[in-house]
Amino acid sequence: MSRLAVIGAGSMGAQIAQQAALNGLSVRLQDQSEEQLAKSIESNRGHVMRRVEKGRLLQPQAVEALARVSATTDLAEAVGDADLVIEAVFEDLDVKRAIFAELDRLAPAGAVLASNSSTMGISKIADATKRPESCLNMHFFYPVLVMDLVEVVRGPHTSDETVGRAMAMAREMGRTAVLLNKEIDGFIVNRILHAATQEAYRLLDAGIATFEDIDTAVEKGLNWPLGPFRLGDFSGLDVTYNARLHMYRSTGDERYRPSAQLEAKVKVGKLGRKTGEGWYKY
Ligand SMILES: NC(=O)c1ccc[n+]([C@@H]2O[C@H](COP(=O)([O-])OP(=O)(O)OC[C@H]3O[C@@H](n4cnc5c(N)ncnc54)[C@H](O)[C@@H]3O)[C@@H](O)[C@H]2O)c1
Repeated sequence: MSRLAVIGAGSMGAQIAQQAALNGLSVRLQDQSEEQLAKSIESNRGHVMRRVEKGRLLQPQAVEALARVSATTDLAEAVGDADLVIEAVFEDLDVKRAIFAELDRLAPAGAVLASNSSTMGISKIADATKRPESCLNMHFFYPVLVMDLVEVVRGPHTSDETVGRAMAMAREMGRTAVLLNKEIDGFIVNRILHAATQEAYRLLDAGIATFEDIDTAVEKGLNWPLGPFRLGDFSGLDVTYNARLHMYRSTGDERYRPSAQLEAKVKVGKLGRKTGEGWYKY
């Protein structure tokens, strides 16, 4: 089986590593922070052991899957023999470019270098390496242990072989991969989610229906588990607002202008579940 290295042990990296290990892969998980590594290993233990309690996994398999993730702060040790590296550090272009430059120096010549970034296409990062043909995006969804999808996105220089190996790795990890042949902001899922959510905000701002009724319509009529306003409260209205503002500013397209009512919520600090109130009260 392939050897995987995951860089960044935050909410995404920790679970990407564990998901791969649950499917039999040996994984090195690297973070600059010892404390964060310890936290992720503990959190993964909780998730895996809950599966044992629920009878979905046998105890010896759980123990093996946990042991297959080895944690380190040493980047050279993490990637020295990797077939594929997935970077999942902070969403900061300079940090990601610095990591890719290091990966270029430290990872084996044939290794595939993938970024889990939600917003940065690999063309912004790959030229920090001398092997842009081996670089691409592999975009996982939170929480990775539950969400089945990976969007694999090729950059202008990504080779067919790199794409094939990333798709195969997603399958080895027990995940379903879809391929985007060209980079585009938001990839597939977030574009469709943004389009639907923007329409919901337009209906609200135009006084066509209340946010409660729009949520009910989407939940009962489209069978979405959460309507757009409930989902916004769950993810954080500041996150939803900033994503729109980013799209609006980078494209100048009126379709992405954030809703006036959404902006008002963010300005008064009603950000959803995390602040006790957003569209709904918690
Ligand atoms: N959270 C989500 O829902 C989600 C979904 C899909 C993709 N993503 C993407 O995944 C990436 C990580 O997001 P997250 O939510 O896990 O972030 P996070 O803040 O939870 O974790 C980031 C981790 O990176 C580590 N880190 C930072 N700089 C580092 C360095 N130089 N070397 C090693 N480790 C370093 C930090 O210590 C931290 O543990 C981002 O690019 C984000 O866009 C996030």
